[in-house]
Amino acid sequence: MSDSKMTRRDALLTGAASVIGLAGIPASLDTLQTMRDRAAGTAPAPPSRAHNPDAFAPVAAGGRERVRFDTDWRFHLGHATDAARDFGYGAGEEFAKSGELFAPVSHTDFDTSAWRRLDLPHDWAVELPFVDDHGLTSYGFKPLGRAHPDTSIGWYRKSFTIPAGDLGRCIALEFDGVFRDCMVALNGHLVAHNLSGYAPFAADLTAGLNYGGDNVLVVRVDATEHEGWFYEGAGIYRHVWLVKTAPLHVARWGTFVRTEVDDAKRTALVHVTTTVENDGDGPTRCSVDLQMIDGGGRVVQTARSAPVVVPAAASTDIDHELRIESPSLWSLDTPYLYTLVTRVVAEGNAEVDRADTTLGIRTVAFDADRGVLVNGEHVEIRGTCNHQDHAGVGSALPDRLQAYRIERLKAMGVNAYRTSHNPPTPELLDACDRLGMLVLDETRMFGADPEALSQLTRMVRRDRHHPCVFAWSIANEEFIEQGSDRGARMAAAMKRIVRQLDPTRLVTAAMNDDWGKGISTVVDVQGFNYHIGSPMDDFRRRFPRKPAMGTEVASTVSTRGIYANDVARGYLSAYDRNFPPWASTAEAWWSAYVARPWASGGFVWTGFDYRGEPTPYAWPCISSHFGIMDTCGFPKDNYYYYQAQWRTEPVLHVFPHWNWAGREGQPIEVWCHTNLERVELLLNGTPVARSAQRVPPNGHAVWQVPYAPGVLEARGYRGARVVLTARRETAGPPAAVALEVDRVRLTADGMDVSVVAARIVDAHGRTVPTASDRVTFGVTGPLAVIGVGNGDPSSHESDKDSSRRAFNGLCCAIVQAGTERGTATVTASAEGLAGAAVQLTCG
Ligand code: GAL
Repeated sequence: MSDSKMTRRDALLTGAASVIGLAGIPASLDTLQTMRDRAAGTAPAPPSRAHNPDAFAPVAAGGRERVRFDTDWRFHLGHATDAARDFGYGAGEEFAKSGELFAPVSHTDFDTSAWRRLDLPHDWAVELPFVDDHGLTSYGFKPLGRAHPDTSIGWYRKSFTIPAGDLGRCIALEFDGVFRDCMVALNGHLVAHNLSGYAPFAADLTAGLNYGGDNVLVVRVDATEHEGWFYEGAGIYRHVWLVKTAPLHVARWGTFVRTEVDDAKRTALVHVTTTVENDGDGPTRCSVDLQMIDGGGRVVQTARSAPVVVPAAASTDIDHELRIESPSLWSLDTPYLYTLVTRVVAEGNAEVDRADTTLGIRTVAFDADRGVLVNGEHVEIRGTCNHQDHAGVGSALPDRLQAYRIERLKAMGVNAYRTSHNPPTPELLDACDRLGMLVLDETRMFGADPEALSQLTRMVRRDRHHPCVFAWSIANEEFIEQGSDRGARMAAAMKRIVRQLDPTRLVTAAMNDDWGKGISTVVDVQGFNYHIGSPMDDFRRRFPRKPAMGTEVASTVSTRGIYANDVARGYLSAYDRNFPPWASTAEAWWSAYVARPWASGGFVWTGFDYRGEPTPYAWPCISSHFGIMDTCGFPKDNYYYYQAQWRTEPVLHVFPHWNWAGREGQPIEVWCHTNLERVELLLNGTPVARSAQRVPPNGHAVWQVPYAPGVLEARGYRGARVVLTARRETAGPPAAVALEVDRVRLTADGMDVSVVAARIVDAHGRTVPTASDRVTFGVTGPLAVIGVGNGDPSSHESDKDSSRRAFNGLCCAIVQAGTERGTATVTASAEGLAGAAVQLTCG
C-alpha cells in the first residue's frame, strides 16, 4: 500500500468510468489541466515540473469544507422516448459542442416555475401510484421501465453560486447514490456519468465553475432499467456533498486504518495509510500529522510523518503505526469508537487539510470450526438480510431512520446485517459502528469487467475503515457463473482487488448451489443460501478447513396480525409455517444451524418487509412477506421467536390475538415463543387442556383452545418460579387512537425524524387487533409528515398522504424536523374515535 499513483482525477474517472466512452472526454491529465486553466482564465499551464522535485509550488489557502448539497433542488419528470417531453434531450446537439449538454435546462435563465422544489434525499418512485402490470411484480408495482417511459426519467436542477475566492481550490460533488443511470452536467458540461444506483461517485467541478457567479447543475436520472429484482426507488435518493479542498489534500476515502490487538488486549497497533493527493501544478513538500482521540475527547496518541514530496498530479501513500495502550475495544456490546484526525501540513507549518475518520479497535477472524471471532471471542451470526426501503419514504431514508431500523433489529437480538444485495448508505454503516452491529457488505455486480470491478473498488475504499464491516460479499446467487470456471476467474479478479485494498477482511459469496465449484473454490468463506442440511454437511465433509456461514436463511413468509392464509387479499398466516420451496421456517433453519457451529450462524431473509417480491402472491400484493417486521418496523410474531432465541433476558409472547367473534367454542391454535423452561396457559383464569408445557429446544409451545372471549394468559416458569406472564385480551370496539413516538426530542436540522406509531384502542386502552380505521395525522410547529405506512402488503394507499388506514390495529407516520427550533405537536384523528396528540421539541 505504498506510493500508489492513483490521483483524484483517476479516482473520479474510475467513479465515472463511462464518461470517457460516452462523451469522448479525454482522460489525459494535460487536457484536463488545460480545461481548468481556461475556465480560470489563466494562460496555458507551463511545462510540468513534476520531474524536478526541487521546484515547489505554493500551497493555496482554504482548507477542507464538506457540506450537504441536499437542499433547494428543482425536480421534474422527463420522458424516456419522447424528446419533446424530455426537455429536448436527444433531439439536439448535446454532445456536438462543449457546453450544450441539457440545454436549455442547463442555461441560467431556464424557467423552473413548473418544476417542484424539494430537498434530497428523494425517491420519486414511492410517489407514483401502484399500477397492475405483471412485469412490475418484483419491483413493487411502481411504473418504472420500458412500458412506462413517462415516469421513468427524472430531472434534477440546482442553481448555486461559488465565491470568487474559491478559485484555486479543488471543488467536487460527491453523490452517495443515485438510482439509476445518471448524467451530471455543470453549466452544460458533462462532469459525471454513473451507472449503478448503489455505487458512490464524484464529479470534479473545479474547471467548469463560474467563480463569483451563478452555476447550474443538472442531473438527468434514468430509472428505466432495474439492477435488482426488488423495489429500488428512483432518483437522487442518497446525500450529495459539496467538497472543497486545497490542491494538496487527503484523497477521497484516503484514510485506511487497520487495527491489531495483542493477545492480552493490553496494547493495540493502529496502522494508518494516508493517501495525500496533489492536484496542484508542481511537486509539494508536506507531512502528515495524526491524532487519535478517544470517546471522551482525549488525545491518546499522536504521530507526524517525515516530510515527503507529493509530485504534481499524483498521490503518495504515507504509513503510520500508532501504539495505543489499554485500548477500549469495539465490540457488539461496547461499540467504542475513536476519532483519527489527519492533518496535512505543508512547509512552514501551514495546515492545508484536515480529515476526520471514525474507527474502532477490534479484530475479526473466521475459524473453520467455531465461525466468527471478534476480538478472539466467538460470535454466532444472528443476522438479517435487508433491502433499504422503508414505509413512507421508499428508498430515500433520512439518516435517523437508518439508525431506527438498526435499533429495532438490535432489540430483537440481531447482531449482524447483510446489505443485500448492494452497498448501503454511509449512514447505515455509521449507525452499525455506533450501535454495535456487524455488517456483511455486499457489492451489487459480480464480474471482472471494468464496471463490476469499479463498483467493488468504490465499496471497499469507502467502507474499509468501518469497524462494523466484518467481511465482503462479492456475489449473490449468480446462477450463470457461480459454478463455472469463468465464475472462478471473475471471483479471483475481485478477490485480488479486495486483498489489495483491504488485506484484513475475508471474502465470501452467497451461493444457492454449486458449493465446491466455481466461485466457491476462490472465496475465503463459503456462503450458503438456504438448502439447510445435507448440501451443507456434504460441503463440510469435502472442505473441512473452509469457514462457512449462512448468508441467507429462512425466507419464512407471514403477515402481521393474520392467522390464516388468504389468497384473495394476499395475506399469509403469522404462525411460523409458510415458506417457498427453497426455504424453511424460522425454527427449522435455526435448529439446523445451532446443530452446526462450524456454519457460523446465518442471515435471515429478511429483517423488514420490503416493496416488491410479494412471494407467493402477485397483484394486489405489492410488498414482500419475508420480513420478521413489516415495512413500518412493527413486529410480526416470529420477531419474538428470534428474540427468545437470541436474547438472554426472559421473553414470553403468546399469540394469536383474542378477538374471534363468531368462532365461540371452536379451537384456536395458540402458540407461545419463549426462552423460559415451561409455560402454562389459562383462559379466563382456568388452565386449558395440557396447560403446562415444557418448551422444546429452539421450538415453541402450542395448544388448541376452544374460543371464549376474555383473557388468555401465559405464565412462563424457570423451575417452580413464574418469571413472566403475557396476556391477550378480547378488545371491545374501537374507541380512540393512541400514539407512541420513537423520540420526543429532535434536532432542528431539517433532517431528523421521529417515528409515530398510531394504535386503535378500545375504551379500556386495549389494542383492537382487527381495526382498520383511517387515521389522519396532523402537525403544528416546525415539523412535517413525510410519509405514512401500515405494513399491509396489499395496501395501494399513498405513502405520501397524511392519512392511512390502520392495518390490524396499527399504522405509522414519519415526522421530520425543519430548521426552526420550537415545540411541535403531532395529532392523530379518526372518524368516530377520540383523537390523540403528542408533543415534540425541535432544538
Ligand atoms: C433469494 C434471493 C433474495 C430473495 C430471496 C427470497 O434467492 O437471494 O434476493 O429473492 O431469495 O426468498
